[in-house]
Amino acid sequence: MDHFEYRNGELYAEDVSLRLIADEVGSPVYVYSTATLERHYQAFANGVSGLDPLVCFAVKANSNIAVIKTLARLGAGADVVSVGELKRAMAAGVPASKIIYSGVGKSEVDLRAALNAGVHQINAESEAELELLSKVAVDLGETAQVAIRINPNVDAKTHEKITTGKSENKFGVDIALARDVYGRVAKLPGLRVAGVALHIGSQLTDLKPYREAYAKAAEFVELLRSDGHNITQLDLGGGLGITYDAEIAPSPAEYGKMVKEIVGHLGCNVSFEPGRLIAGNAGVLITQVIFIKEGINRKFCIIDAAMNDLIRPTLYNAYHDIVPVVEAPTGAEQLTMDIVGPICESGDYLAKGRKMAALSNGDLLAVRTAGAYAAVMASVYNSRPLVPEVLVHGDTYSVIRRRWTVEDMIALETFPEWQS
Ligand code: LLP
Repeated sequence: MDHFEYRNGELYAEDVSLRLIADEVGSPVYVYSTATLERHYQAFANGVSGLDPLVCFAVKANSNIAVIKTLARLGAGADVVSVGELKRAMAAGVPASKIIYSGVGKSEVDLRAALNAGVHQINAESEAELELLSKVAVDLGETAQVAIRINPNVDAKTHEKITTGKSENKFGVDIALARDVYGRVAKLPGLRVAGVALHIGSQLTDLKPYREAYAKAAEFVELLRSDGHNITQLDLGGGLGITYDAEIAPSPAEYGKMVKEIVGHLGCNVSFEPGRLIAGNAGVLITQVIFIKEGINRKFCIIDAAMNDLIRPTLYNAYHDIVPVVEAPTGAEQLTMDIVGPICESGDYLAKGRKMAALSNGDLLAVRTAGAYAAVMASVYNSRPLVPEVLVHGDTYSVIRRRWTVEDMIALETFPEWQS
């Protein structure tokens, strides 16, 4: 459930009219709902509560500092994959003791930053990374708490670009090789190899792959313990799916129950890294119709948002529900149209063959489920400035990232000396 609904025929975020936000802040604009972020975080935390876990919001899903702070105030930790995300999490008030630093290619600079910040745990993904981390830790006189991300070779049955737990994916250490790796790296100085981590993919709508992967991880923890490793940490990643269209995703409660059944007996400190589940349905992208164009056999609705603002439809063939901000009359005829942006590429669309009631120039649309992997994946292609982000809280709202200007972008560029 989310807090976007029609009131007297107009779409609201909590108690604020989205038309009002578009009037005052301009279009396009991302709008997030505090109550929805909080509700989803609580639902997840309640679902897994019996395990007394550390719930680390995957900052990659939505890295605005005000969004992170909303969750940090409820006790959330953060899962970060870059120095940028680490700094954002800390700026938003997440204590380092609740930060997990993940990622397949951490450089020496990244590892130094993680250790200097004093993060709770580093999830390492290769033996080479562990060797580098050992050197950096010794150099800094630190001991790094480490989990090794294993690749359990389980198909998450999600989109191929967001499946991460198969042997052919670049992620983690193959479970068939991992025992030897633990044996070797346990001897490295500066490391406390205390955990096992895994994350098999994103937007999972079935518990089966989780069950399979977590069972493999549990068995592996026992194997490591029998080898003499003191394994106390188990990071079960994120990935729980949400409804964009008609998907039926397992509830956090069902997920939590399954987790308890499979890993509860291990007595590990468990952590999770949910991103999409918390932020996805907590955001919309508001956009305005520029023109309606009739083709020979197609109708195009040209809007002011584009693939640079929301790349998911063209990158993953992702479906995002699109609704008018002013509700169409009941029984209005449904027309089929492509909803496209102004960018000079045929891949620039937010929906194809979508059924909508008739639209006119100037109408506002809300692209739903745009709170995760949306603003964070935006680019400035075609020199289109990044759009603002707004956070609603009850009957008030605040601009939490201002609209970029072309001048902001040009200011980062310089002419070489020989052109002056
Ligand atoms: N932990 C790790 C190690 C991850 O790689 C990810 C996501 C997460 C946690 C959070 O997963 P979530 O709970 O959000 O599913 N851009 C794609 C999604 C990429 C996900 C990458 N990793 C999309 O728009 O669908």
